[in-house]
Amino acid sequence: MEMRLDKLLASYGIGSRKEVKNYIRKGFVTVNGKIIKNDDYKVDYQQDEIIFDGEVIEYRPYVYLMLNKPQGYVCATKDNLHPTVLDLIFGYENYDLFPVGRLDLDTEGLLLITNDGDFAHRLLAPSRHHSKVYFASIEGKMNQEDVAAFKQGIVLDTGYRCKEANLEILEETETGCNVKIEIFEGKFHQIKKMVAACNKKVIYLKRLSIKNLQLDRTLELGDFRELSPMELVDLMNDL
Ligand code: URA
Repeated sequence: MEMRLDKLLASYGIGSRKEVKNYIRKGFVTVNGKIIKNDDYKVDYQQDEIIFDGEVIEYRPYVYLMLNKPQGYVCATKDNLHPTVLDLIFGYENYDLFPVGRLDLDTEGLLLITNDGDFAHRLLAPSRHHSKVYFASIEGKMNQEDVAAFKQGIVLDTGYRCKEANLEILEETETGCNVKIEIFEGKFHQIKKMVAACNKKVIYLKRLSIKNLQLDRTLELGDFRELSPMELVDLMNDL
């Protein structure tokens, strides 16, 4: 992939476009071992070895992270009241990251964070009906009638009929039950509203998967990692 040397160094965070041009003219930059002094020099960031002042520049246009979101963090880039999920991410200061979609303040689990707008748009497009699986602890016992209602499409208090969803009752607890819920759309507070429509209440919610991407169980709450090339290929396939 070819791009201008000054643009690449500026996007990497070396400095402003003007500062970067100055560094290049002063001979701070080598490409494949050769000092390059013209700022419009074209580099291939996948092939060329670019070194600025002794530092190897490993430029990538896009970053894809999975975060195990803890409660108490807002899925936004800025918020006046609460910390945002981006406050948990470090080492990617030069990338314009944002969360892909939203989990509620009190929801935990799999959240994707990227700077690839097109990817996010395709993953969130309502017309694509991508699967999302949640674990939920419920106050009140869900039953086979609820399972059937989820299959048929729960009607919310707004009158909206949800798309077919899968409810699996995992086990009973003292005050209710634990369930797994798979939905194929992403309305605001959707799981909580669907469960409320069955006259029960979600008391804990965690997202386990999006499409074929599973939350990495070794990630502690608040930890993140880059998607592996395989995970990314699988996720992008048929997006
Ligand atoms: N459904 C909800 O009710 N909350 C979430 O955070 C995600 C899905």
